Amino acid sequence: MNLDSTHLEEKAHTYEQNARISVPAYDTLFAMTQAYFRTHLGNQVSSLLVVGAGGGNELSAWGPSNPNWTFTGIDPSEEMLQIAQRKARQLSIESRVQLLHGTIDILSSTPSTFDAASCILVLHFIQDRQEKLKLLRNIHAQLKPGKPFVLACAYGERESDELQDRIKIWQSFFLDVGYKKAKVEDMGKVIMNISFISDQEIQELLQEAGFKHITRFFSSGLFAGWMSHA
Ligand SMILES: C[S@@+](CC[C@H](N)C(=O)[O-])C[C@H]1O[C@@H](n2cnc3c(N)ncnc32)[C@H](O)[C@@H]1O
Repeated sequence: MNLDSTHLEEKAHTYEQNARISVPAYDTLFAMTQAYFRTHLGNQVSSLLVVGAGGGNELSAWGPSNPNWTFTGIDPSEEMLQIAQRKARQLSIESRVQLLHGTIDILSSTPSTFDAASCILVLHFIQDRQEKLKLLRNIHAQLKPGKPFVLACAYGERESDELQDRIKIWQSFFLDVGYKKAKVEDMGKVIMNISFISDQEIQELLQEAGFKHITRFFSSGLFAGWMSHA
């Protein structure tokens, strides 16, 4: 399916804007992840696995500034992948980018080949704990031993006042940029459809999947980021 370029442009623009309202310090998350990867990879030629590469923001954040990095991006959304493909072309980094349509399962026959991996803003779309664990285990299997992994996703205890408070703040970000109150109230209900699990449960999942030295390095509104090693 090839979507027309105006539609893709609009979709990309909307995604870019909403991500930055939804996740304050969104760009800092990518800058910190890049710094973490650089600390471990130095200037060596390195292959990165980007799980949930739709939209291509990992490519634009890390591609031009790290000419020795190659990227394998995976995403089940063809439309989001087309946006990523377009971004890679605009940044002239196409030769270092391979985009695959599907989930990480399509890589399972070639384990332990990547020097770093990220899974940014994906895990909360997977409802089932076993499925989350399977995804993290598959990422672990794709990494060379000891290599860095960054996970970022929504977190929180579903029924807690603490999460409800953070959702109110998240809603206020959208009100502040001019979204209508009724729309923002609806968004407050829709956001509860994603899978919220606590920081502790996320760290337990990472451990169960085989990751070590897990550190939460980022937190912004509804979302947080954890660094770890395979
Ligand atoms: C909110 S976007 C995040 C995209 C990008 N990582 C970023 O931060 O801009 C979530 C992406 O995850 C993808 N996704 C959903 N389920 C997935 C899965 N099981 N494996 C990989 N990607 C998935 C969606 O298609 C979508 O492109």
